[in-house]
Amino acid sequence: MTQSEELYPEPVIGFLEMLWGRGWLSPGGPDELARLLQGEDLRDKKVLDIGCGAGGIDCLLISEYGAARVTGIDVEASVLETARTRIQEAGISDRAELIQVEPGPLNFDDATFDVVFSKDSIVHIPDKHSLASEVFRVLKPGGVFVASDWLTSHDGEPSLEMKAYLAAEDLDFGMASPELYADALKQAGFVDVALSNRNAWYCQQAKRELDLLKTGLDDRQIQELGPDVVEHNIHTWSLMIKVLETGEHCPHHVRGRKP
Ligand SMILES: C[S@@+](CC[C@H](N)C(=O)[O-])C[C@H]1O[C@@H](n2cnc3c(N)ncnc32)[C@H](O)[C@@H]1O
Repeated sequence: MTQSEELYPEPVIGFLEMLWGRGWLSPGGPDELARLLQGEDLRDKKVLDIGCGAGGIDCLLISEYGAARVTGIDVEASVLETARTRIQEAGISDRAELIQVEPGPLNFDDATFDVVFSKDSIVHIPDKHSLASEVFRVLKPGGVFVASDWLTSHDGEPSLEMKAYLAAEDLDFGMASPELYADALKQAGFVDVALSNRNAWYCQQAKRELDLLKTGLDDRQIQELGPDVVEHNIHTWSLMIKVLETGEHCPHHVRGRKP
């Protein structure tokens, strides 16, 4: 992918980091990460992070959760450049590896990782069944897949409200239902498959984000981000909140274990 085709170029990274925190291109911060990783022990584990983005989470997986090594993969050069900076700032370059990949099969040997992690990135990967079997393949026996992702409540035609939101977001989303996700994981061979709906939390959180965009930014922030960028995102967030309120947009936590 060339930098001009990127969905997350530098200005988008800057906007999302302003909203969600340094190194974060998804909502929730350390509290949401803690909820996602509840019950998992990452100490001394080899972790693959699919769609690592700007690297804020990888820093925490190492510094707070004790992962021995994190391999972050992403399809875009700009996010990886930011992630490299964040990882250097955190002083953990010796335990983190960042790789630009092409969409498709994972370029790792069978049974390489103890944990495959992902936060809000698999929404960009339309074929959940192929992804699940690749994740299963690169996990060691006993390894776990733990992810957060943006799901939709059904696999039929999106509602008009959802179509309007997806058009405004314009991020090539390939959203799937919890049923399809669970089927993909079970067919791949995962056991202890569990999904939990984070819609109620994100619905509230997104409203706070919209308030910030509407009234919480000072003039310097608006000029730095660009007034048109702020306006566009107020529009996108307003549309997103409608489909969060109906439940059609339903972020989930997803996990499964390789026997
Ligand atoms: C919403 S961001 C989330 C980034 C990070 N996980 C976080 O929570 O801050 C989605 C990321 O997925 C990446 N992505 C899109 N398609 C991908 C693919 N096929 N494989 C790996 N990463 C991908 C994007 O480039 C972007 O960095």
